[in-house]
Amino acid sequence: MIKGCKFGTHRVLQPIGSLPQGALKISNDMEIATNEILVDVKTLNIDSASFTQIKEACQKDEIKMAEMINSIVSERGKMQNPVTGSGGMLIGTVEKIGPDFPDKNLKVGDKIATLVSLSLTPLHINEIKKVNTSNDQVDVDAKAIVFESGLYAVLPSDIPEKLALAALDVAGAPAQVEKLVKEGDTVCIIGGGGKSGVLCCYQAMKNVGPNGKVIVFEYSESNAQRIRDLGLAHEVIVGDATKPVEIYNTINEVTNGQLCDVVINNVNVQGTEMSSILITKDDGVVYFFSMATSFTKAALGAEGVGKDVNMIVGNGYTKGHANLTLQIIRESESIRQLFEKLYV
Ligand SMILES: NC(=O)c1ccc[n+]([C@@H]2O[C@H](COP(=O)([O-])OP(=O)(O)OC[C@H]3O[C@@H](n4cnc5c(N)ncnc54)[C@H](OP(=O)(O)O)[C@@H]3O)[C@@H](O)[C@H]2O)c1
Repeated sequence: MIKGCKFGTHRVLQPIGSLPQGALKISNDMEIATNEILVDVKTLNIDSASFTQIKEACQKDEIKMAEMINSIVSERGKMQNPVTGSGGMLIGTVEKIGPDFPDKNLKVGDKIATLVSLSLTPLHINEIKKVNTSNDQVDVDAKAIVFESGLYAVLPSDIPEKLALAALDVAGAPAQVEKLVKEGDTVCIIGGGGKSGVLCCYQAMKNVGPNGKVIVFEYSESNAQRIRDLGLAHEVIVGDATKPVEIYNTINEVTNGQLCDVVINNVNVQGTEMSSILITKDDGVVYFFSMATSFTKAALGAEGVGKDVNMIVGNGYTKGHANLTLQIIRESESIRQLFEKLYV
């Protein structure tokens, strides 16, 4: 047994010197280093941008999707979609713990959810049992490795595993809302009717208080209705966020020309950077949680329209994100019921 690099660089095959996330190929040899753990994987939660791309490329054919997922993992040693670059996360049971792994409270047999992306997690799939096109989850017989620096959460006993998996996949989003949104703010959540969007709306409603305003901009009437039913926004607008001037005109009107202090982008499609930027006030904040965001489009686009806004790359991690997200599921019976219906 060797002691590996805490960030997993000992597993990088190509290009040597890069970190596992940026690597094209990593070793998915399931022999653990002394500072790694081996996980017996039950279910993968593929990141929505990646799953949507695979679903479209395979015309929603579950067999073709399984073949595509298998071929990506065989090629790369990890489930990193070559088009979107994104991954997802997994749940499974701890099978082996190396003697140098730092968390001495973790035990063999613990059920965990990884909180680092599948785009850097060594994965070996023996069999894909089911691709669930309705909730982005893939049931597998597989093994995975977590590095010494890897984040994970032991699954709570009061929340069903697949519900926790679905919520923890997007835990960074509501936790960032908690950090960014202040009392009295006007907030727009683009793609607010999706999974991360619902959690962000809940947190934003809490943070803005009685004098603030939460606006949801959502593509489908059904997802918009979900937010109205849950009472998770003051204003719900149906429209297409790939049409920046249309959304700008609408938000300009509903905010009496004031625009938004904070914009959270939760969509799973490309081409929504400028909508997010245009509807933000000067000196306001845009948080791009969406993995379909282009840095180039956002940076050059903001400059092109003379917008001085603070743009935040959607780091999926912020301290306490897992607890905050699971707490929303505990606090809100209606979100819990919705997520149970959609993801369990
Ligand atoms: N930063 C991170 O660490 C991290 C972690 C996990 C996920 N993500 C990313 O976060 C994003 C959201 O994930 P999720 O799981 O919440 O996805 P989701 O449940 O699929 O939600 C996406 C939402 O965006 C809406 N939408 C799609 N096209 C739109 C458009 N043109 N205009 C307005 N709304 C539109 C969708 O509406 P319809 O369903 O009606 O089309 C849906 O409600 C994805 O890009 C995902 O890859 C990031």
